[in-house]
Amino acid sequence: MLALLPPPARAQPGEEVPFITTPDNVTLAMLQLAGVGPDDRVIDLGSGDGRIVITAARRFGARGLGVEIVPDLVARSRAAAARAGVAERVEFREQDLFKTDLSAATVITMYLLPEVNLQLRPALLQLAPGTRIVSHDWDMGDWWPDETLTVDAPEKTIGLEKKSRLHRWVVPARADGLWCGPAGTQLRISQRHQAVQALWQRGDRQWALQGRLDGRVLRLLGTAGTPLQARVQDERLVVEAPATEAVTLARAGGERCSP
Ligand SMILES: C[S@@+](CC[C@H](N)C(=O)[O-])C[C@H]1O[C@@H](n2cnc3c(N)ncnc32)[C@H](O)[C@@H]1O
Repeated sequence: MLALLPPPARAQPGEEVPFITTPDNVTLAMLQLAGVGPDDRVIDLGSGDGRIVITAARRFGARGLGVEIVPDLVARSRAAAARAGVAERVEFREQDLFKTDLSAATVITMYLLPEVNLQLRPALLQLAPGTRIVSHDWDMGDWWPDETLTVDAPEKTIGLEKKSRLHRWVVPARADGLWCGPAGTQLRISQRHQAVQALWQRGDRQWALQGRLDGRVLRLLGTAGTPLQARVQDERLVVEAPATEAVTLARAGGERCSP
């Protein structure tokens, strides 16, 4: 019977996410929260009149791409970029944000809707570790933001509160599983987005640890308060602190580390 059911319909964001601008002071706060700088490539998903991408280029020297489904808004964005003198640094594409290759982004900004954010979440979690994501007002369910702040938004055209909530995430490295090092050293990691629980083992001694990933950087604390910091480099995990523990572990091929 199940096979006869149509696949779950995705929301039709082109119809469901209306064009509402992020006020200028909130745009600035979003870009500051993301820590945008000249080395960044910012992609605004549903770029409206282009203000976020144009501000990223004009105020922070970044490069940017705006993806927008409404042709007239794309034309307005291009004209505004030319007026702002940043046409060389930004691009506006008439495109469905769900069909956009996001892999070149170092920063993603969005002002969409909760269900659209949730539909985007799997693709965002696949981005390069360390990619920053900032969303105006809406979060992403149980992928808790790394930081949330509320800013006054007197020029906001919707809602009575005249405040905006900004959420920031950093795409975590994929660290889940077993990591094996020399002389019986191993780290077993259980990861839910950026939240991590781990069991560190050296010979027959074990320590339970917990903490979080900030992109590729794993920061854990043991129950006795012992910190452990490591960097996830794809198939290698380099323990950086405490220095006395300096060791490189490799991702296990199976359920156990070979003796
Ligand atoms: C709330 S507005 C935000 C505009 C701009 N990012 C800002 O913050 O000022 C959302 C924008 O997303 C656009 N949009 C909706 N669905 C889209 C889709 N599937 N692909 C690209 N753009 C889309 C809408 O046309 C609208 O301009």
